[in-house]
Amino acid sequence: MIAITDLINSVHGDDRNLDHRQFIVAKDLEKIVGCIRTIQVESDCKEMASLVVLPEYRKQGIGSTLVDLILKKDLSRPLYLVCHREKIPLYTPHAFHEVGVQKIPETLQRDFIEMKQHKGDDIVVMQTGQEK
Ligand SMILES: CC(C)(COP(=O)(O)OP(=O)(O)OC[C@H]1O[C@@H](n2cnc3c(N)ncnc32)[C@H](O)[C@@H]1OP(=O)(O)O)[C@@H](O)C(=O)NCCC(=O)NCCS
Repeated sequence: MIAITDLINSVHGDDRNLDHRQFIVAKDLEKIVGCIRTIQVESDCKEMASLVVLPEYRKQGIGSTLVDLILKKDLSRPLYLVCHREKIPLYTPHAFHEVGVQKIPETLQRDFIEMKQHKGDDIVVMQTGQEK
């Protein structure tokens, strides 16, 4: 768990209520080089979060593979995610699309407003699966 926490903290990523059961990790031998998870935000709302790949392992398809694998592990739909606008191209091949904040569950709306204060205005919410 420490390796995952360090990885997330290295990019000031989402470290809310970390639980190793939420994660899929990418390993190079025993070294954790990437991670991703889903979080239960509300009883009927799940978020994909904490996607990180170590800098020296980027641009080799690991991030995209982690997205694929978490979508196969966690079949809840819709799944939401919050990201900087520049990261949209990472998620569109996985059938995520941008969604208006007024259309997302209330708890996620509150998280989104809080995240904006930390990450700046240029963040968006995306979802995969049928809209509710
Ligand atoms: C974002 C991150 C996880 C991508 O990991 P990666 O292993 O390099 O990603 P991949 O090699 O699978 O890239 C797949 C596609 O994602 C897109 N992409 C990857 N990094 C991107 C970036 N920084 N900005 C925009 N698009 C990006 C590209 O379209 C890329 O396709 P291409 O290789 O054809 O150009 C990694 O750069 C990282 O850990 N960044 C810091 C943490 C972060 O921003 N996490 C995402 C939070 S929303």
